[in-house]
Amino acid sequence: MGICNLSSNQLIAFDSYKEDRDTGGFIMIDRMTNNTVGAGMLHFALRRSQNIHWQAININKQAHAAIKGQKPFILWFTGLSGSGKSTIANLVEKKLYSLGKHTYLLDGDNVRHGLNKDLGFIDADRIENIRRIAEVAKLMVDAGQIVLVSFISPFRSERRMARELVEQDEFFEIFIDTPLHLAEARDPKGLYKKVRRGELRNFTGIDSPYEVPENAEIHIDTMNKTPEQAVEQILNYLNNEGII
Ligand code: ADX
Repeated sequence: MGICNLSSNQLIAFDSYKEDRDTGGFIMIDRMTNNTVGAGMLHFALRRSQNIHWQAININKQAHAAIKGQKPFILWFTGLSGSGKSTIANLVEKKLYSLGKHTYLLDGDNVRHGLNKDLGFIDADRIENIRRIAEVAKLMVDAGQIVLVSFISPFRSERRMARELVEQDEFFEIFIDTPLHLAEARDPKGLYKKVRRGELRNFTGIDSPYEVPENAEIHIDTMNKTPEQAVEQILNYLNNEGII
């Protein structure tokens, strides 16, 4: 039991529970299982919910995209640490760049040096890490950019949240499917060794979960593919879908 702030993506009409139990109480339903997972009493609307308005801007997403001559979208790479996400994302960006596309690669390790340097690896921090980066990617799409996002992003619900921030044809999830034993054998940063020596906790795939994507647009099996072949698979997909 506790007190919390709730935010919704739609306006909700309500009264305070003190004034009216019917219009001041709520339940929460898990949309996957349809189970009731919580109940609450509404106290008051935060002042900011009524005082922050959406500012209309003339140079909108279409204008930003048109001047770049491209369709903006997000390529969301997910997979274990050491799975090859960043290597493949880097090669895809090089390829898109050579085609004259305006791109930007957001990489977990890099963003954690700046914007997200206050975050660690407990679940709550990973959730906030992905929330921020999804919002940044959305802003970049709004600016007409093609954004490559390379984060472990271990939780399905945060990947879904990122997907739902943009239009349906602006988000492509790419599962870099590398089994743990292979990522551990590669261990490009020596982190798995540290984990096995007991020097690193909450490590994805070991003592922190990785939820495998269920409906990624692109599935890359790195056991049977070189990074170059992975790039080809991704570019073929984008071509076939008429995205680039
Ligand atoms: S995420 O889970 O929040 O999406 P993110 O992609 O930003 O992770 O950062 C992962 C990178 O941080 C890994 O590639 C690895 O280099 C480093 N790292 C350091 N500690 C951990 C940890 N406990 N679990 C996973 N990655 C870690």
